[in-house]
Amino acid sequence: MKKTIKDYNLSGKKVIIRCDFNVPIENGVIKDESRLKKSLKTIRYARKNNAKVILMSHLGRIKTEEDKQKYTLKPVAQRLSVLLRKKVKFIDETRGKKLEDTINNMKDKDVILIENTRFEDLEGKKESNNDKELGKYWASLGDIFINDAFGTIHRSHASNLGIASNLPNGIGFLVEKEIKELTKLTNNPKKPYTIILGGSKVSDKIGVISNLITKADYILIGGGMAFTFLKAAGFKIGSSICENEKLSFCKEILDKYQEKLILPIDIITATEMKDNVKTNERFINEIEEDEIGLDIGPKTLEVFKQYIYDCKTIFWNGPVGCFELKPFENGTKELFKIITNTKAYTLVGGGDTARAAVAFDTQNKVSHISTGGGASLAFLEEIDLPALAIINEK
Ligand code: 3PG
Repeated sequence: MKKTIKDYNLSGKKVIIRCDFNVPIENGVIKDESRLKKSLKTIRYARKNNAKVILMSHLGRIKTEEDKQKYTLKPVAQRLSVLLRKKVKFIDETRGKKLEDTINNMKDKDVILIENTRFEDLEGKKESNNDKELGKYWASLGDIFINDAFGTIHRSHASNLGIASNLPNGIGFLVEKEIKELTKLTNNPKKPYTIILGGSKVSDKIGVISNLITKADYILIGGGMAFTFLKAAGFKIGSSICENEKLSFCKEILDKYQEKLILPIDIITATEMKDNVKTNERFINEIEEDEIGLDIGPKTLEVFKQYIYDCKTIFWNGPVGCFELKPFENGTKELFKIITNTKAYTLVGGGDTARAAVAFDTQNKVSHISTGGGASLAFLEEIDLPALAIINEK
């Protein structure tokens, strides 16, 4: 069992909490704050126990100087201040005198948020390559390190692995809960066990498909990634998204596990991906050259239902259509209705699927929504999670 924040006396200590505040922000407005809300329990606990709370997170991927404006964590500090009803002081640098002085002047229960850790990626990818000096420097700012960023638990970065290598450490309540819930899927999941995979890319899901195909009873495939499978199965997919370099993987796995991998039988197509566009309902052998498949069709939903209704365990990662656009929301929306009408344990993972759950008001009807996309897949694949492995055992 991993050490948790509860295993430490926090009083008067500088406690660095690595959070995952990688949230969608448009023009300074946070579009989905569920990750912030799920981080509150650990932050509140640290304050209640008289810690000096130092929050860190990444946001987006930083490749150019211009990215810094778009991906500043300032809006997160403002929103957190409201959610916590306590001012969260924002420090607009990732290292330096201002940061160090602010930390040295903190009082118990104060909360600060340091600027986006990935600003350190601009020169030599120091954050993402777990630069040893950077991890040591950040660790020198605190007394205890708590990893509560489940979304990056599969990454070896300076702000998780690096700091944890240099300080007494533990996990926060969010990570503890994610482990508890996801373990229900790795530790003898109740059968039948159906997995729903969507999203645009097969390449993101190869590991999980190869690994889980033997553990799950069925894998239902939707979203953009379905078209690489459909092409591999010999169908013409028109102008739909396709990863040609993954065709042989899809063909091989389809040949081997034909009865377990369930593909769509009909598709909603259009010639453009936008609102107010004319849509067509096509069987998969009817897709025309200029058409793009953008959602699963009603007959596919009927087929999928047969593999879902008597399930005891369901894992879903990736929307099955472009649910953000009204003409293509139906597949994802109806699938939420179907899974929430079962008695199964239902775990939804991935930022887009979590957002869809909120959009269709089903977030409180599923058993658990994971804050991690790639992280929940990595957990299920049971591959090494470096930022978790480094955390001390009790
Ligand atoms: C996520 O949104 O899945 C996590 O915050 C990890 O982000 P990353 O894929 O950019 O490392």
